[in-house]
Amino acid sequence: MERVLILLNLTMKKINVAIAGIWSFAKALVEGVSFYTKNPNETVGLMNPLIWNYRVEDINFVAGFDVDERKVGKKLSEAISMGANVTKEITKPIEYEGLVYRWPTFDGIVDQMKGTFVHESNLPVADVSKMLKDNHTDILINLIPSWSNQATYFYAQSALEAWCSFINLIPTPLATLPEWRKKFEKKWLVLLGDDNKSQLGATMLNRLILEFLKIRGIKLTKSDQENRGSNADHFNLLYRAESKEKSKREALSTFLEKDDAKPTVKFFYEGNPSGHKLVKLFIEWEMFGRVPIVINATIEDEISINGAGTAVDAIRTAQLLVDEGKQKDAPKVCSFLMKSSSKPMSDSKAYKVFKKTIGQNL
Ligand SMILES: NC(=O)c1ccc[n+]([C@@H]2O[C@H](COP(=O)([O-])OP(=O)(O)OC[C@H]3O[C@@H](n4cnc5c(N)ncnc54)[C@H](O)[C@@H]3O)[C@@H](O)[C@H]2O)c1
Repeated sequence: MERVLILLNLTMKKINVAIAGIWSFAKALVEGVSFYTKNPNETVGLMNPLIWNYRVEDINFVAGFDVDERKVGKKLSEAISMGANVTKEITKPIEYEGLVYRWPTFDGIVDQMKGTFVHESNLPVADVSKMLKDNHTDILINLIPSWSNQATYFYAQSALEAWCSFINLIPTPLATLPEWRKKFEKKWLVLLGDDNKSQLGATMLNRLILEFLKIRGIKLTKSDQENRGSNADHFNLLYRAESKEKSKREALSTFLEKDDAKPTVKFFYEGNPSGHKLVKLFIEWEMFGRVPIVINATIEDEISINGAGTAVDAIRTAQLLVDEGKQKDAPKVCSFLMKSSSKPMSDSKAYKVFKKTIGQNL
């Protein structure tokens, strides 16, 4: 079976990807892939220029799903710039063939976003698994607003029915649940998640500092993380922050001991639409002689672009695991790529495990 799958892969040039949730993150992802496709020798900004023999330019967007009338029915490359989209442009996107289809909203939109951030389309909903099949989709990625649980489980089920792998980039628990992982494994598909780590964002820097503290034998007395953003997801988090805060807190707890302070994570919506995010970290601990010491750190970034930097690796890794029949290795790569994973570990260890799993020696 493994050989047949490897043989099949030799003829597979592109990874066909569909995206659920066409907004800031989707725009950054489509434009980022377009940038590396137009500049094939560019490797700056990539964590892994090659994953097996997959390059970023091997990612092909075949479909999108959204609920907003300004996006449904449009070409994906056009729809990514519609509506409340505020991400900085990386490049003019390639004109991918994929269209955006209307999906059932379920719990995707909080009431406070209706009529402002989101104008719900009156068009009938598409048959999702049929659309995935008709567009020869290999992977469906989930980028709908945080804590859209009902919608996420519906889309994961649709991917299964269409024989597509699924990458859950939002905090809804899915890939961390063994029953869902098994459903995908049974069909030789891959499920990755949950809630991707940015390439270098608040979680990564906060984790790095906390891991370092432990090596230096220091007791943590305070770890506060403040996230200030102005995109649609930050507005959504005014009403649904709990899941995101939990996912982030869990990602920070890997290194902590019982008597260490519990990290806090807070979100603020700043208004003035933009993709700019400001993060403040305040970390306090006791060093030699129980003397206090403090770190104040600030990060400023384009939040969606930072997330897309990891998503291009998740997509190529998921396809590699399918090609090689290594679906069961999915949790190993999730520790490196995701905030919540079933095998939490330090980032340096997760990096080594990830590299080994994708067949690259350090
Ligand atoms: N660095 C990052 O940006 C980062 C990192 C980790 C996770 N995430 C997650 O990625 C997700 C997307 O981020 P964003 O900034 O693009 O969010 P967003 O709120 O700007 O966009 C969400 C999109 O989903 C659409 N949508 C809502 N319900 C839907 C449904 N049922 N079916 C299809 N589409 C639906 C909305 O119309 C909107 O286009 C969020 O859940 C966020 O938590 C982002």
